[in-house]
Amino acid sequence: MMTATARCLLDDIPDGGGKAVAEAGIVVLRRGDHAWAYRNLCPHFSIPLNYEPDTFWTYEGEHLMCAHHSAMFRFEDGMCVDGPCVGAALTRVPVRVEQRVVVVSDEDADGGV
Ligand code: FES
Repeated sequence: MMTATARCLLDDIPDGGGKAVAEAGIVVLRRGDHAWAYRNLCPHFSIPLNYEPDTFWTYEGEHLMCAHHSAMFRFEDGMCVDGPCVGAALTRVPVRVEQRVVVVSDEDADGGV
């Protein structure tokens, strides 16, 4: 098991959008002062959720959309609520916000569970 910690400024993440953080393949989603982090891996085909580097599609600050087949994932729990993998979920990564700095701790950066 490998532990990696990455940081970024909360204000560098679009409000209602997402940003790639670290080389470990993590996407951080933001709404206001809240942040959620997930492994950047769509459960449909096990490929990254984005098509272009660090470009994530979101819908009304509520859902992250996979760029490949438009699966929609809730910010809050990563659950797919529409698209080809309804009921599957993104893999959550521990995240906290400290004085507007987002701290992500990926406790299993090698991909195992
Ligand atoms: S790879 Fe994400 S919806 Fe198909």
